[in-house]
Amino acid sequence: MKVLVIGSGGREHALAWKLAQSHRVQQVFVAPGNGGTARDSNLRNVPASAVNPSDVKALRAFAQSEGIALTVVGPEAPLAAGVVDEFRAHGLRIFGPTKAAAQLESSKAFSKAFMRRHGVPTADYDTFTDAAAAHAFVDRLGAPIVVKADGLAAGKGVVVAQTVAEAHAAVDFMLARESALAVHHNAGANGQALPRVVIEAFLEGEEASFIVIAHGTHCVALATSQDHKRVRDGDQGPNTGGMGAYSPAPVVTPDVHARALREVIMPTLRGMAAEGHPFSGFLYAGLMIDAQGRPKTLEFNTRLGDPETQPILMRLKSDLFEVLYKATDADGAALADLELEWDRRSALGVVMAAHGYPENPRKGDVLTGLPADADDAMVFHAGTTLGDDGTMVTSGGRVLCVTALGDSLKLAQQRAYGWVDQIRGEGLHWRTDIGHRALQR
Ligand code: AMP
Ligand code: GLY
Repeated sequence: MKVLVIGSGGREHALAWKLAQSHRVQQVFVAPGNGGTARDSNLRNVPASAVNPSDVKALRAFAQSEGIALTVVGPEAPLAAGVVDEFRAHGLRIFGPTKAAAQLESSKAFSKAFMRRHGVPTADYDTFTDAAAAHAFVDRLGAPIVVKADGLAAGKGVVVAQTVAEAHAAVDFMLARESALAVHHNAGANGQALPRVVIEAFLEGEEASFIVIAHGTHCVALATSQDHKRVRDGDQGPNTGGMGAYSPAPVVTPDVHARALREVIMPTLRGMAAEGHPFSGFLYAGLMIDAQGRPKTLEFNTRLGDPETQPILMRLKSDLFEVLYKATDADGAALADLELEWDRRSALGVVMAAHGYPENPRKGDVLTGLPADADDAMVFHAGTTLGDDGTMVTSGGRVLCVTALGDSLKLAQQRAYGWVDQIRGEGLHWRTDIGHRALQR
């Protein structure tokens, strides 16, 4: 069977690599893909010049003309643009949420109100379109306090303000920017076309990524993981899309795992179904786990995490194609009996980022010293392009995610950094402490 993966990041490289391992899969297309998926002879890129990856109708037409048996969506933007609705309307099998269900991620205001309606634990909050009311709320709650833009912001729409002054500035900045960009994700849904910010209480604890494969009210959990959002060692500097990740995350003890499913995931799936938007796809809860092991939901993503996917899929032994094919059957009950098989080893991925990332990443730097794929280590590509002459050059902020397995997290870390040290590229930077929280426990 033929499979299509939509997206161009490290997550999509890992998805395509894993799907291609299934004996039922004859060809994996990646639209548009990157330098890593271009170089892999088992994968085939669909260049943006042939199929515009942000045009859901063009993607659907491609899937029809190629006879694609299953499409898997990597990033949030095509989901919010209704790619799943478009494919399903034409009888095509696709794994991901509809546009309505993807609001769990595409609108913070929707997801916070949804959590309140369904008793899903999350930080106390309020939503504002009026700057004066927002400023008054900031003064009332005090710092630290968190200000979030309503729409999709690729992980950059959140300011964790340590002072009230910082929070006031964030409110003004986000309301002005949202109106300048006309970011009105819910304009159709509730008639409200004003820029909005969500302001919420600061939560203490340790973060973890909890991702399930869901269909309606059935789900199966993936291995747990933890991301590193700040750009510099010791969790310093601005937030990024993620500078590295590892799996499993020891903060998710069996008790926390059970609570996350019972208190966060299941009420969310039941709530979405009850509201007429049954959720199908990867559901990612970003959790803050307090000292007593109580999880609260920081955010939902309606897709896999990047870079969490890279270490998670290195550990998956089950056939991902079979699993996702079952998960797109009309009856999601097949998921309920599904047991995923995991490598007992730990996996750890280090993101190598371009000069200037996250503010202003530079493109066009040549990469050398890339090791060949191994059973226990992989270089997943993100912002890379393969030139006609075979040179690999940078073309985005996050360039590579060097991911390795090890009998312990420490050994996985050593193996991954051993490869990082072999790779050369002008201006590349990376964190040297991926895994530090788990290693300090
Ligand atoms: P989000 O996109 O909502 O997950 O926010 C991005 C990051 O900001 C999270 O991964 C957290 O590190 C931080 N963050 C968001 N909300 C809160 C909160 N209420 N308390 C503390 N940190 C937060
Ligand atoms: N690594 C965080 C995310 O994918 O949203």
